[in-house]
Amino acid sequence: MPGEFTFDSGRRSTRVVVAPGSRLEVPISKDRRVLVVVDQSVANTFGKDVAEHLQARGAAVATFIIEASESAKSLETVGHIIDAALAHRVDRGGVFVSVGGGITGDLVGCAAALHLRGVEVMHVPTTLLAMVDAALGGKTGANRQLPDGSLGKNLLGAFWPPSCVLVDVETLESLPDRERRCGLAEALKHGLLRDPDLLKFIRDHRDALLSAEVDACDSLALRAGQIKALVVAEDAEEHGVRAILNLGHTFAHAIEGEPGLSYQHGEAVGLGLVAAARLAVVLGEASESFLDEVRCDVGAVGLPVTMPEAPDGAALLERMGFDKKTTVSGLRFVVPTPPCGAVVRSDVPEDAVVAAWTEVGVVFS
Ligand SMILES: NC(=O)c1ccc[n+]([C@@H]2O[C@H](COP(=O)([O-])OP(=O)(O)OC[C@H]3O[C@@H](n4cnc5c(N)ncnc54)[C@H](O)[C@@H]3O)[C@@H](O)[C@H]2O)c1
Repeated sequence: MPGEFTFDSGRRSTRVVVAPGSRLEVPISKDRRVLVVVDQSVANTFGKDVAEHLQARGAAVATFIIEASESAKSLETVGHIIDAALAHRVDRGGVFVSVGGGITGDLVGCAAALHLRGVEVMHVPTTLLAMVDAALGGKTGANRQLPDGSLGKNLLGAFWPPSCVLVDVETLESLPDRERRCGLAEALKHGLLRDPDLLKFIRDHRDALLSAEVDACDSLALRAGQIKALVVAEDAEEHGVRAILNLGHTFAHAIEGEPGLSYQHGEAVGLGLVAAARLAVVLGEASESFLDEVRCDVGAVGLPVTMPEAPDGAALLERMGFDKKTTVSGLRFVVPTPPCGAVVRSDVPEDAVVAAWTEVGVVFS
């Protein structure tokens, strides 16, 4: 079922429209200068649709195509987007529109925050992950190489919320199966945080969601999006409760930063949810049956629950910020507290983290 909601995302309110065909309803009046920044995977399809529809409405549109990869999620690409905006003379009354997944949205949001000290941004997410999570909430970002040569995820960025997000699940038609599964990882996360019924919905509609059926995906985007919106509205710039949205991410970012591993963000989040569930058991916040459920939910949507090719656990601990001298160097973990909730803890002992990594198949020699 189509629907829409509006929420306070800090600097402005964000209107989220969930409806098939909504990519052709980007609310930009004529005479505005618009830069459409599109992921190359959808440039000839949905990017073209969006640009043509805006042109037909009388906007002055330029299109800029980017590559959506974690290695290209960089300050350099942000600079290229801004160069395209300067070439197109996008003024302070202009708008950036992203068409693509989470990488595109994060980069375009970041460029919009910087261009002329900030211009309006709207998102047309084309991955399930961006529809249920990344496009909402105003976190923008780019990666940066760390001094040891590894990838520091999302180390750069600003809070720069979109004025509008148009969730058009028709765009999922061309999304590869692997990416559809990734989207379900963030949706499961939202269910674990706030809504057991959402977990049940995902279990009951798994096949429809994985085959991108419109009604099932609309419902998921509305339900999962509203959970994120509720948390963001409470704490837009992550001074407190918003940190729970990082459930599984302390593990996921270590996985993504490990040069020898090649997991997509959603896959790393799925593994991170299983690891976080083990952490909750070790810390006395959850039972073994909760852990079994999380592992089962993650595995049932086709996401990995173990990493047979993981490096030695010591390397992952080090990547997380543990080193030989300190047990925990200010590291914060989001620990699930079933049936639906989580707490942020910065007092997690190393052996609990070792148990969490072991749960997803990491070996400590
Ligand atoms: N800002 C936030 O709050 C937030 C939240 C979660 C994740 N993220 C970020 O989002 C990123 C992951 O996002 P993602 O999973 O959407 O990845 P993505 O943007 O890399 O897209 C995944 C792949 O799908 C392709 N693609 C996109 N739409 C397509 C379509 N409709 N048809 C065919 N191919 C398509 C892309 O080219 C890419 O190869 C990560 O960098 C993560 O850090 C940000």
